[in-house]
Amino acid sequence: MMDSFEFSKISAAVLLALLVIVGARVVISSSHPHYDPAAGYQLPEPPPEEAAAGAGAAAAEGPAFNPADVVALLKTAKPEAGKQALGKCTSCHTVAKDAASKAGPNLWNVVNRKLGALGDFKGYSDQMKAKGGEWTYEHLAGFIHSPKKYLPGTKMGFAGVAKPQELADIIAYLRTLADSPAPLPN
Ligand code: HEC
Repeated sequence: MMDSFEFSKISAAVLLALLVIVGARVVISSSHPHYDPAAGYQLPEPPPEEAAAGAGAAAAEGPAFNPADVVALLKTAKPEAGKQALGKCTSCHTVAKDAASKAGPNLWNVVNRKLGALGDFKGYSDQMKAKGGEWTYEHLAGFIHSPKKYLPGTKMGFAGVAKPQELADIIAYLRTLADSPAPLPN
């Protein structure tokens, strides 16, 4: 038979153990905001800039990048998301119809426009003027992904958009900037 003194010692020990466990959990979850007791540790994804810097330039360029993958995403891409992402571009580019160009050429009706051909924009590089061809979806994907790789010597001072989905969203939005948008690829 347990006497009552023995019993209260045991309950006190159990209580103390519980307190320690609960306390430890509180400490763990407050000092490790990503600790979820149910799911265990999940490392936060580093922002893309950091990932690219950490991976080094060669890896960031990604030998795996293929403009055709971006074109394939266009059908399901979200122009609204692309409009948001275009905030990266609008310090240099206007997009409204008939808006004057700024540091970069106006992007209204850019899909299938000739490269470097906007009349009111005087800042094209010689390389852009000499390249020839039209801004097909594929060319836009290649250029916006990596302006300097696509067109060495370009005056577009912009690092590029790494993610295929974001590129597709941006191009899907650019496509809407026209009186009669070009057809989507099959
Ligand atoms: C720092 C300014 C700057 C930023 C930011 C910038 N651009 Fe440009 N962009 C330029 C300049 C300058 C040119 C002309 C490049 C040349 O002639 O070599 C250009 C050219 C272009 C062209 C070719 C247009 C034509 O008439 O041939 C496209 C398309 C384009 N930019 C899209 C974008 C998109 C999309 C973004 C954002 C994801 C972006 N740019 C961000 C400055 C910028």
